[in-house]
Amino acid sequence: MTDATSYAAAASARLDRLWQRGRDFLGTRTAVMGGAMSWVSERHLVSAISNAGGFGVLACGSMAPDQLAVEIAGTRALTDKPFGVNVINMHPALDQLIDVCREQGVGHVVVAGGLPTGATLRRIKDGGARAMAFAPTLGAGRRLVKQGADALVIEGTEAGGHIGPVSTTVLAQEILPDLREVPVFVAGGIGRGEAILSYLELGAAGVQVGTRFVCATECVAHPNFKQAFIRASARDAQPSVQIDPRFPVIPVRALANEASKRFMEFQRDIIARVDSGVMSRDEGMLEIEHFWAGALRRAVIEGDVENGSLMAGQSVGLVTREQPVADILAELIAQAESALARRASDEASLGEVAGVMAEPPVGAL
Ligand SMILES: Cc1cc2nc3c(=O)[nH]c(=O)nc-3n(C[C@H](O)[C@H](O)[C@H](O)COP(=O)(O)O)c2cc1C
Repeated sequence: MTDATSYAAAASARLDRLWQRGRDFLGTRTAVMGGAMSWVSERHLVSAISNAGGFGVLACGSMAPDQLAVEIAGTRALTDKPFGVNVINMHPALDQLIDVCREQGVGHVVVAGGLPTGATLRRIKDGGARAMAFAPTLGAGRRLVKQGADALVIEGTEAGGHIGPVSTTVLAQEILPDLREVPVFVAGGIGRGEAILSYLELGAAGVQVGTRFVCATECVAHPNFKQAFIRASARDAQPSVQIDPRFPVIPVRALANEASKRFMEFQRDIIARVDSGVMSRDEGMLEIEHFWAGALRRAVIEGDVENGSLMAGQSVGLVTREQPVADILAELIAQAESALARRASDEASLGEVAGVMAEPPVGAL
């Protein structure tokens, strides 16, 4: 065996060990979760991620329970590998969606869109599934573990979609070293394998990747949506802006387009109407909340990239072409492994230099 092949084999074994906890928890070959993306993460992308050795997660967004049942069955027809379901905490039929997961034997349910109650986590676990939730802070993470969460996701502000205020790197440093009771998966801004490696070395059990999978060949997103991702750079993925604290706007990271420009004018117009007494504050708030209704579907499914919402993370700058899921995963793994192999080879050469230096100079004895 050459040095290079032995370093590569050692790197692969080391990576397996680093994300062993995540792989065991998910039941997969790699501890890469495909972040659920509404309209994007349906049966085709989810099964492709699971078939390639990752962990696909169905986004049920605003689906009704019977639609979710159909989508789970459809996914199961395309893969015999494990996959999960992402449910939104404030969905009016949350309990029924969880019941559908139980009836369909889903192994992992991820609750997004706010902190789940202990009752929600229990309902998931009573149905035999593992319950996962998003932890925005260390304190919240600890509470979720006490309430029964089996694993956590921490997601930084670089991510696509709804975001919190803190970067992935800071959240990871704040939470990973101190929260060891359950596996923690890191999300937000991950576009290369070296980044995955760094979070694993900080204590993550695995990662969750969204943006990088949008341009997968298997993803049903409209070609216009994918082209917008391929053309965009990191700085195009911007958070939505709230212009008046009386009218809160949930921050969402998306590619800037006509709709995001219009959203600013729209807010200004509504606020002026409220201030002049033409509209009540509640009516104004509702109008602002409704601005984006249906907008993600418009962009993802209909391909209207100017009037729809182009939710995307900053890692969109690392999306350069359409590729099969298996190639995306293989690329991420190869990057992590070659970083490990490079390090082993550098350490070996340093060892040789140190060995030479430790030898007594000729004639010294
Ligand atoms: C288009 C899009 C839609 C998303 N929809 C959801 C969703 O419905 N539920 C959810 O929990 N997260 C959603 N997310 C977040 C992803 O699941 C994932 O956590 C995030 O994309 C990870 O960060 P990254 O985009 O930097 O990889 C969405 C992200 C994108 C880009």
